Amino acid sequence: MTNHPPTTWNAIVLAAGEGTRMKSYRPKVLHEIAGRALVSWVVQTALDAGASRCLVVLGHGRDDVEEELATRFGQRVEMALQPERRGTGDAVRCAIEAESALQGRLVVLYGDCPLVPGQLLRDLVSRSEEVDADLGLVTATLSDPSGYGRVIRNGTGDVQRIVKDRDCSVDEQAIQEVNPGLYAMRADFLREALVRLSPDNAQGQLYLTDVVELAAKQGKVLDLEGDMADLMGVNDQRDLAVASSTRRRRITEELARSGVVIADLDALYIDADCKVEPGATLGVNVHLRGRCVVRAGAQIDVGCILTNVVVDKDALVLPYTVAADSTIGVGAQVGPFSHLRPQTKLGPRSKVGNFSETKKTTVGVGSKVNHLSYVGDGIIGEGVNIGAGTIFCNYDGEQKHITVLEDGVFIGSDTQLIAPVTVKKGAYVASGTTVTRDVPEDALALSRSKQENKEGYAARLRARLRRKKKP
Ligand code: UD1
Ligand code: CA
Repeated sequence: MTNHPPTTWNAIVLAAGEGTRMKSYRPKVLHEIAGRALVSWVVQTALDAGASRCLVVLGHGRDDVEEELATRFGQRVEMALQPERRGTGDAVRCAIEAESALQGRLVVLYGDCPLVPGQLLRDLVSRSEEVDADLGLVTATLSDPSGYGRVIRNGTGDVQRIVKDRDCSVDEQAIQEVNPGLYAMRADFLREALVRLSPDNAQGQLYLTDVVELAAKQGKVLDLEGDMADLMGVNDQRDLAVASSTRRRRITEELARSGVVIADLDALYIDADCKVEPGATLGVNVHLRGRCVVRAGAQIDVGCILTNVVVDKDALVLPYTVAADSTIGVGAQVGPFSHLRPQTKLGPRSKVGNFSETKKTTVGVGSKVNHLSYVGDGIIGEGVNIGAGTIFCNYDGEQKHITVLEDGVFIGSDTQLIAPVTVKKGAYVASGTTVTRDVPEDALALSRSKQENKEGYAARLRARLRRKKKP
């Protein structure tokens, strides 16, 4: 770290490659770790670190990559097109040609290096500035350097060039210092150097790494040491899993340090865009996906999978609850084994219990859907009790209809409510009723055949059956 005044710099992120080693239909840079695409991690880091502009080079799967970036970053990113995959040098050339106005120091990052720390970018820029380097690069040491370009130094230890893994001689292959692929270059130097790249190599491509040799020959090169744990590139599914675990662990460590109660740092799956307040508790194997918010005092127990869910203060989510696009109110209780589908809104101190499913339904203050029910397209008032096995019959095969239960309603077990239907304030629906018409305030709705008791019938039946069994 230095005290050098902050400088203006721009980022170029290379994301045009296909990523054949991923063996996947998706463009490589759209594979996700902790809920964010690889390329979005890189762009986010560059923007957070202070890049004035961030230009992403697109090619393979460009529409999908562009959509991801536009949705997430809007105007903060710009795109350039690399029409054919002719190597990392060609990709940078496409960016520079698209943007003649790019000046000052340009930081080039690969879109498949999702763990790059922002501080390293800032250090690389300010140190390059300090010594007025044409090119600054980061290097790192690896016990197994295969797959990475090797850093070749001369007798006095100065960086000379980078050799691509597959172009290495036997001696070069043994070099453990690698090129993680992070550069800060003076724009004018880069422009000139790119023109001089040649596809004279094993793949017939233009390698960006060849600009290092040009800088070493006629200019000034600065090298900074980085930690490969932060700089790994994702080339195949194993790399993706390794990067995922690393990122996941960092997220949970950070939460634990901030005051979230965490049962097991390695058994939590929290996407990067989720927020968990200090004083919340997360049990083992909890997944928080997308953009969840968990407020102080909330407890999420073992095995819950929540996607875009807000869990308000002091709410209790019991084991194995699955919920999406929903809110769980202050002090509410859900689960075990509940399923909240999109647009469920649970009011303060309400309860949804085991094996109940909800969808597009609001549940008022203190109301209960405790056992084995389906409530869909419902508006449930305050202090409502819904007995076990109640079904909101919301779908007629063509359309969805709404069920309204006003404040203080009591629904007996095994009731079906055929929507559209309203049960008015304080009304009571007897168990086993099929409600087809609105129920007036404080009324009782009852629809079932009268019970008949046949005295002694069971005993006579048993006797008859026993007689039949004897030979
Ligand atoms: C590259 C480096 C290598 C380094 C390694 C670090 C080169 C020639 N090699 O190798 O020295 O050790 O990264 O992870 O630069 N891309 C394009 N257009 C292309 C080719 C690639 O945009 O025509 C993009 C890819 O989408 C990817 C990035 O550039 O995000 C790197 O490409 P990749 O093929 O993964 O390079 P490596 O073989 O890993
Ligand atoms: Ca790579």
